[in-house]
Amino acid sequence: MKLCFATNNDHKLMEVREVLGDSFEVLSLKDVGCEEELPEDADTIEGNSLQKAQYLFDHYNVNCFADDTGLEVQELNGEPGVYSARYAGAQRSSTDNIRLLLSKLEGKADRSARFKTVITLIEGGEVVQFEGIVNGVITEEERGAGGFGYDPIFLPDGYSKTMAEMTSAEKNAISHRGRAVQKLHAYLSDK
Ligand code: IMP
Repeated sequence: MKLCFATNNDHKLMEVREVLGDSFEVLSLKDVGCEEELPEDADTIEGNSLQKAQYLFDHYNVNCFADDTGLEVQELNGEPGVYSARYAGAQRSSTDNIRLLLSKLEGKADRSARFKTVITLIEGGEVVQFEGIVNGVITEEERGAGGFGYDPIFLPDGYSKTMAEMTSAEKNAISHRGRAVQKLHAYLSDK
């Protein structure tokens, strides 16, 4: 089965292909001729995930799925959450986002946080969502050169490596997106 993944993020595409690639052909947006930005202006992670998948299904008539992710920090009442990409401004810079988050947490004892991903699958017009969560803490400093986004400052509970210090297989086994994609894989395999 061919499925288009509604993302322009090559890191996400690689991570998802590692989980689904042996069983399903995961097409990129370029593969289906979609070069425009996908809409994501909902005010929830679920809403953004649905918006991206629905846009692709409606405009390109392909079976597809989209993900949306937010980093929720307890001490900051769930910030940056759905605004994780634009936390430090419209330039969507991970360096700026990390700097802002570390400054807001300076001197705070509780650094617990979680990543939440919601994947929306639209197959034959039917819509199904899958959630993946990983709990952890925000480190004091960046560590590691792998991954992307907030990975260098996210230490999953029970691990001594940040997600940027893990291989992509290690990250996929425990991450928010990895968990959501494993649910997607199980759902599609059962069909
Ligand atoms: P989106 O799902 O692409 O909208 O991502 C929202 C924000 O979270 C962006 O700043 C991403 O860089 C960041 N993000 C998404 N997934 C991950 C991840 O797996 N690790 C670290 N940061 C992530």
